[in-house]
Amino acid sequence: MSNVLVGYGTRGGATKDVATSIAAGLEHEGHIVRVANLSSPTPLEGIDAVVVGSGIQAGVFYGEVLGWLDQHTATLAGLPVAVFNVCLTASDPSKHEAAMAYNQAAVGKLAGVVSQEAFAGRYVPEKVTWWKRLLLRGINKDRAQDHVNAELARAWGVELAAEF
Ligand SMILES: Cc1cc2nc3c(=O)[nH]c(=O)nc-3n(C[C@H](O)[C@H](O)[C@H](O)COP(=O)(O)O)c2cc1C
Repeated sequence: MSNVLVGYGTRGGATKDVATSIAAGLEHEGHIVRVANLSSPTPLEGIDAVVVGSGIQAGVFYGEVLGWLDQHTATLAGLPVAVFNVCLTASDPSKHEAAMAYNQAAVGKLAGVVSQEAFAGRYVPEKVTWWKRLLLRGINKDRAQDHVNAELARAWGVELAAEF
């Protein structure tokens, strides 16, 4: 049994939902899990393993997640770490590789990762500023859509549990 931190960054809430489902899978396997939004200070004292994830905008992890990884590089080097992202690209199974590539910047900041994944997110236009909506229109992703699959995220949590 380990103390696991599931840390995430979100703008629209999809990554929080995915993180919560991953945590449910880890808890089902007997781990003690803390789910934390990395926009608030999140120390690593007492933590044995970490899952870190972010939503994706314009191809990159959110700044607070990358910043948190930079801040805790030394401690994270001694812990098992898994990485995930939540994006719309992952809603198309034929683009799984492209969605996984969004993890690279985060993975590059770590000594190694035990596992990584990309989960499909959602798009709620009302939650996005008008100029960001224009950006999405440019890549034909501006229609409201929700692909968040709690069961898939929970199953990954169960799978990860064995690594921790
Ligand atoms: C301004 C903006 C840019 C986005 N850029 C991308 C992108 O480059 N690739 C992608 O697959 N999804 C992109 N998305 C979709 C988000 O990754 C998706 O909405 C995801 O659910 C966001 O997670 P969050 O709700 O936790 O913030 C974008 C969304 C917004 C609003």
